[in-house]
Amino acid sequence: MRKKVIAGNWKMNKTPSETKALIEELIPLVKNTDDTVIVCPTAACLAAATETANGTNIKVGAQNMFYEESGAFTGEISADMLLDLGVEYVILGHSERRQYFAETDETVNLKVLKAFEKGLLPIICVGESLEQREQGITNDLVRMQTKIALKGVSSENAKKAIIAYEPIWAIGTGKTATTEQAQEVCKAIRDCVCEIYGKDVADVITIQYGGSVKAANSKELFEAGDIDGGLVGGASLKAADFEGIVNYK
Ligand code: 13P
Repeated sequence: MRKKVIAGNWKMNKTPSETKALIEELIPLVKNTDDTVIVCPTAACLAAATETANGTNIKVGAQNMFYEESGAFTGEISADMLLDLGVEYVILGHSERRQYFAETDETVNLKVLKAFEKGLLPIICVGESLEQREQGITNDLVRMQTKIALKGVSSENAKKAIIAYEPIWAIGTGKTATTEQAQEVCKAIRDCVCEIYGKDVADVITIQYGGSVKAANSKELFEAGDIDGGLVGGASLKAADFEGIVNYK
C-alpha cells in the first residue's frame, strides 16, 4: 500500500510571521494522520517553517531550486542552502515556473538530478493546458515531461520521487479534473514509469493530483487507484481547509 502524500504549495503567499502562525495552527489538526504532510512556503519563509514544524509530523518543501552548486547566479537558491535550513522536499517544474519563468523540461531534469544528488526529494510537476487536452495529446505530453524529468535518475531514486499531475486548466480555476480524468492520467504516468524502470519502481513511486483540490473532492480523488495524494494550492492557505484535505478519510 502506498502512503498518501499531501503537500500544500503556498505559492507567493504568507510572510514569515504568517508562516509561523499557519503552521502552529496546523500542528494539532494534522498530527494524527499516517499520511505524509508537507508545506511548501516561499523561500523567504522556509526558515520560519522548518523552525516551527521541527519535531512535528509536518515536513517542509521549497517551491524551486537551482541546479548549480553555488556561484554567480543572482537570486537563485541551491540545494545545500535548502538542506541547511532543514528542508526535505522541493517542488520542481511547476507550470507557473514553466509559464512565467522559462522553466523547461531540460532545466527540470537538471534540477531533479541535483536534488537527488544532494538528498532532497523532488515533487515533479507535469500537466497539460486546456488547448493540449482538447487536441487529445494529454497523455503523450505528460509521458514526455515525465521521461525527460527522470532522465538519468537511478531506480533507487525514482522510487523516492513524487510526480504531481497538475492539469493547467484546473489550477486556481475551481475547475477540478474529474476523478476519472485524474486517475486516467496518473495511471498513464505510472505506466510510463513502468516502461522506464519496471514494476517494482512503478508500484512505489508517488503520483499526486493537483488542481483545485479541496476537502469536498479530496476523498474521491485520493481513493482512486493511482492517485497517491495531492498538491494543493489555494486550499492549503487556511488551516481549516487544508486540515479537511489531510484528514480526508
Ligand atoms: P490550486 O489548488 O489553487 O488549484 O493550485 C494547484 C497548484 O498549482 C498546486 O501546485
